[in-house]
Amino acid sequence: MSACCEILLSETQAAFEEKFGRVAKWIVTAPGRVNIIGEHTDYNEGFVFPMAIEKNIIIAAAPALESDGVPDEMARFYSLANGETVDIRISGDIQPTEEVKWWSYIQGVIAGCLQREVPMMVKSFVAVIHCNIPIGGGLSSSAALEMSTATLMEEMSHVPLDKVEKALIGQKAEHDYARMPCGIMDQFISSLAEWNHLMLLDCRSYEYQLVPFHSQELSILIIDSKVKHELVGGEYAERRASCFSAAEKLGVKFLRDLTLEQLQQNKEKITELEYRRARHGISEDVRTLEAAEALKNKDYDRLGELMYASHDSLRDDYEVSCAEIDILVEIAREIGKEGGVYGCRMTGGGFGGCAVALVETDKVDAIMDKILQDYKKKTGVTASLFVSRPARGAHVIL
Ligand code: GLA
Repeated sequence: MSACCEILLSETQAAFEEKFGRVAKWIVTAPGRVNIIGEHTDYNEGFVFPMAIEKNIIIAAAPALESDGVPDEMARFYSLANGETVDIRISGDIQPTEEVKWWSYIQGVIAGCLQREVPMMVKSFVAVIHCNIPIGGGLSSSAALEMSTATLMEEMSHVPLDKVEKALIGQKAEHDYARMPCGIMDQFISSLAEWNHLMLLDCRSYEYQLVPFHSQELSILIIDSKVKHELVGGEYAERRASCFSAAEKLGVKFLRDLTLEQLQQNKEKITELEYRRARHGISEDVRTLEAAEALKNKDYDRLGELMYASHDSLRDDYEVSCAEIDILVEIAREIGKEGGVYGCRMTGGGFGGCAVALVETDKVDAIMDKILQDYKKKTGVTASLFVSRPARGAHVIL
């Protein structure tokens, strides 16, 4: 366990003891993720290349006691992130709330587990949730909440779920309870990640390859721009819809089934906008497969070039970047290979959030200082930066 997750764990345990006056019976965790390349390709049944990060959600829980005052068939969740406590139904037909709340993800996962015959073995329980994944930073705190909830359900019921099944329960919770029509990448990596490995995932077959990332010379740097532009949900659904309509007009179900040549030859069948959206989706798959090969061959220069090309495509064709993230990527380009940066790009859904960079480990401190200073100078915003090794997927701590 990384040092920062150890701190998170002891804070969670202390909060549980303070809130409920005893020690937790179950403690589970799931990581956030960063995507190295393969953005906005999962819902087109394409390829993604994410890794889990050393930032987690931890849930500590125990069966409720009479003195807790939790009604039967309910669970009481206390979130350290916002100090809120909520009672959630844990049996029967759990309906989504009208407004999406932080606990919607929990509700959706509990409902999904119950439907899949993961029984609720306790009448009621109490839980504390703690998180060191920046919320709203595009590092999948929601997938981590879903995967930690599913892990808690497995642990309480002694019914293990298949890890892919678990990811699918999380995705369905996100669709039906948080009303976000996401792909499978975030839940999949949060459920199945392995230490020191990136994952090349085929979002059609769910087959995946774990690609070793052992070299201590190379680091993954995550830069939180600290900006989050609104409109995110609607823009995401709109991009999806453009991809689906382009695919349909070109006679296939998903962009995955088209080559760039086919797209070029049939350009007149789709609108200019659909053409650009499809060009991103199709070219990003090609880049993603090549990036995984480049890492296997230790060709970090090529991997870096592909990351920059991915960013350009997301900025110009897919139009999901934003001024602040573009500035971060430009600063990284200016530092360049001489300064120890191989490549950099926006990561996640877009419109703010984080950038990810592939950097030389021994230059990382200087790179961080330079990015922090230049970004502050250009935007007035103080970014937050951290390095992460590829971390492990959801698991039981206690
Ligand atoms: C969000 C979604 C993912 C994926 C990315 C973009 O993180 O949850 O499924 O589509 O955006 O790559």
